[in-house]
Amino acid sequence: MPYSVSKLTDFSTRALDEAITDVRDALREEAVAVSDQTQFKVHRDRWLARKNGILTQIRDLWLKQAPPEARAEVGKRFNELKDQVENILQTQKMELELRAAEKVASKRIDTLAEWKSMALGPSVDITLPGIRRSLGAEHPVIRTMHEMIGVFRNLGYSVEEGPEIETDFYNFEALNFPPNHPARDTQDTLFIAGQESKPLRDRLLLRTHTSPVQIRTMQKMKPPVRVVCPGKVHRNDALDATHSPIFHQIEGLAVDTNITFCDLKGTLDHAMKAMFGSSVKTRFYPSFFPFTEPSADAQISCIFCDGKGARDGAPCRNCKASGWIELLGCGMVDPNVYGFVDYDATKVSGFAFGMGVERIAILKYGVDDIQLFFNGDVRFLEQLG
Ligand code: DAH
Repeated sequence: MPYSVSKLTDFSTRALDEAITDVRDALREEAVAVSDQTQFKVHRDRWLARKNGILTQIRDLWLKQAPPEARAEVGKRFNELKDQVENILQTQKMELELRAAEKVASKRIDTLAEWKSMALGPSVDITLPGIRRSLGAEHPVIRTMHEMIGVFRNLGYSVEEGPEIETDFYNFEALNFPPNHPARDTQDTLFIAGQESKPLRDRLLLRTHTSPVQIRTMQKMKPPVRVVCPGKVHRNDALDATHSPIFHQIEGLAVDTNITFCDLKGTLDHAMKAMFGSSVKTRFYPSFFPFTEPSADAQISCIFCDGKGARDGAPCRNCKASGWIELLGCGMVDPNVYGFVDYDATKVSGFAFGMGVERIAILKYGVDDIQLFFNGDVRFLEQLG
């Protein structure tokens, strides 16, 4: 009895296994009876013909009739089966071609080279290279992020991540931004609509910085803590050469007993030298963030004019002739923050910092427009890949 496809009533894995084994056995059995290329054409059409070939029938009777919960599995199995049937038939076709060529030549053909040199060579050249798919490269922003994470990993820091959709509590309140505090306005927050009925602290927003991951980390870990927290952040900023509504930050947090501002300076000085070369200098300039006290902006000596403020007799444009470039915000964790995470502010101290990854990538790669990172133009990405 030649094989015919029958309806499936049972779509369990075991029933599918059996049905598919039957198909493969049938193909093998029928192949034995095929002894020349004319017979092969009939055999191939019986299995592969688009209209009513066995594979088409299997698709119509099994896949299309499968109940929704079994469809993904049947689809996967069907595709595997289709590949196998096509491979088996392709191999058989080559074998028959080889036998035909041997018949014409009245001798055995032992090597592919020998076969290829004949007029009746194989119809598929299996020695040709396959289609080469070009390998992608790490995006310059992600590469910079990984490099920076590597610097801190070497100092014993681990990596923590948090959600991009945050609550007001994590993004603001627990970081010591009281409700209605003007410091909130500096963050150009994108709020999720329709949250007015919830208490303020539960309302959702797109995180404006990676600092909320500090809070999440301290809630789940007791000191000593040393973490970096990379990720995407969002702000309601118009696009221009230095602003993008989506960008990346790396947050850092170290909390332990007896951590001082000296530790902060030493750590960041080391990290900046590791990123930009051992000749860069760092300096710390007073600043304000609600969650650190004291707060500072860390600056590095301008890598374009070596901190001189001038290049080729003209004022340096990169540092506005100051010799310094502002790179990140930092400070000693404000004791109020420990109150939100159940740390004892009389026993522990720590520092935190946050930096923009695009800003660092712009400096490192000499890019003059942040939009280039996001436009997806391969001509740009290839230069840095
Ligand atoms: N979250 C700040 C911002 O996005 C950056 C920052 C400043 C993070 C000081 C810190 C810090 O951890 O200590 O503007």
